[in-house]
Amino acid sequence: MIAGFEVLHKDIAGRLGRLRVGEKVVRTPALLPVVNPHLQVVSPAEMSAMGVEALITNAYIFFRSEQFRDRALDPGLHSVLDFPGVIMTDSGSFQLSVYGDVELDNRETLEFQKRIGSDIVVPLDLPTPPGADRKRAEAELDITLSRVKEARDIIGNGPLIAAPVQGGLFEDLREEAGRAVSRLGSVVTPIGAVVPLMENYRYRELVRVVLAAKKGLSPGACVHLFGAGHPVMLALAVAMGCDLFDSAAYALYAKQGRYLTVHGTLSLDDLVELPCSCSICRAHTAEDLRTSPERERLLALHNLHVTLAEILRIRQAIRDGTLWELVDERCRSHPRLLDGYRELLRAAPLLEASDRATKRRFFYRGYESCLRTEVVRYHRDLSRFALAGRVLVSFDNRSEPGYDACLGFRPPFGPFPPALAETFPIGQSEVPSWDTSMVRSGCEGIAILKAANPEAVFTVRCGSEWAFLVEDEVPGIEVLCDEA
Ligand code: GUN
Ligand code: ZN
Repeated sequence: MIAGFEVLHKDIAGRLGRLRVGEKVVRTPALLPVVNPHLQVVSPAEMSAMGVEALITNAYIFFRSEQFRDRALDPGLHSVLDFPGVIMTDSGSFQLSVYGDVELDNRETLEFQKRIGSDIVVPLDLPTPPGADRKRAEAELDITLSRVKEARDIIGNGPLIAAPVQGGLFEDLREEAGRAVSRLGSVVTPIGAVVPLMENYRYRELVRVVLAAKKGLSPGACVHLFGAGHPVMLALAVAMGCDLFDSAAYALYAKQGRYLTVHGTLSLDDLVELPCSCSICRAHTAEDLRTSPERERLLALHNLHVTLAEILRIRQAIRDGTLWELVDERCRSHPRLLDGYRELLRAAPLLEASDRATKRRFFYRGYESCLRTEVVRYHRDLSRFALAGRVLVSFDNRSEPGYDACLGFRPPFGPFPPALAETFPIGQSEVPSWDTSMVRSGCEGIAILKAANPEAVFTVRCGSEWAFLVEDEVPGIEVLCDEA
């Protein structure tokens, strides 16, 4: 089968792409709703009408199902589910890891997935839980990788093989696993065994594990984050370079009366209003929804609408170069998500390499913005500026006689020559009244420039409110104070 992944636009490590699976194309980032043939509250045909281009279902359920097994074999999965798009099938791995009673081996599940006409098959990987020690993580990773290799022989020129990246919490193993599956030429590479991290809000570790896997994976791999589908964390995951998500949350949460929002989950029982613009919420009151015989289905539809809309919002943000702003906004919904966001920012020097050169704007949203890739890149570029003689850095961007160079100052970036005044990021930064964090970050820029030009003599002219900060941050610099 002809398959490939093409990246069209980038922002941070996030991508807007096209996954080609035979004749079909999936635009990414994409959400693959999880479909259980026995519990279809929203039908795949309805999903297709909502813009869903790919879904995921569990081959093991079909294998075990008296009702669906034969029909999946003939006329096939697409026909049984009445879905023309891409269908990915998961193996029984997750059931195996949770219930330990899967009576299928790797060959059997792969042959079955192939026979039912799956577009993307998953070998029987071993999802190593976060608590596992290194020995176990290594041993299970070896088995997973050998099953991925075996899959290539079993599947041949059949459906696309998704090659799971395991390794537990061990970052070097995740990186090695990423490198190993990419060496095998895998196009779709799910990062596995992260559900327990997400369920327990362990977002800092999630970020570490995903970034480690990404280090090893080819930049051309289409990365699936297994089991991730809550809208609150999708922007963060995309920013790390994940392209595919699968959501069972829309249905599971609906069953429990839980109402998804991009800021977190609400209980339908607590809602007086339905703060959402989807067709369900506009046509019903909270009371309608609570008392409707169709409550579960309506909630599932709302949950799916919200999640799909977030995917579209993320795609638009990648086009505009505003993904950092969206991540910043979403990750303030929960303190542990904020931890994950801060972990991502710690990796900004790494992410900078994949980030795009220009964006529509740089919107300052507080201290965290000072750590963004654009600031890291600007500071790195500053060290390449050659200056000589007397250099003025003017906080109000005024040139003065008596200097060989007069630079402006734009926090959180720092000094800039007049020629860069209109270029990104200086010209496109949307910055409120200056605060200490951003001025400190800008001063770091001055210090970098000064260190790179030890022969030049630097003077800063600033308002008196910043004089002490400048002297602290750039030791030995001459500061001229404008009276406040
Ligand atoms: N679903 C959620 N996590 C996993 C995983 O690690 N492997 C597989 N095959 N399916 C999953
Ligand atoms: Zn809604």
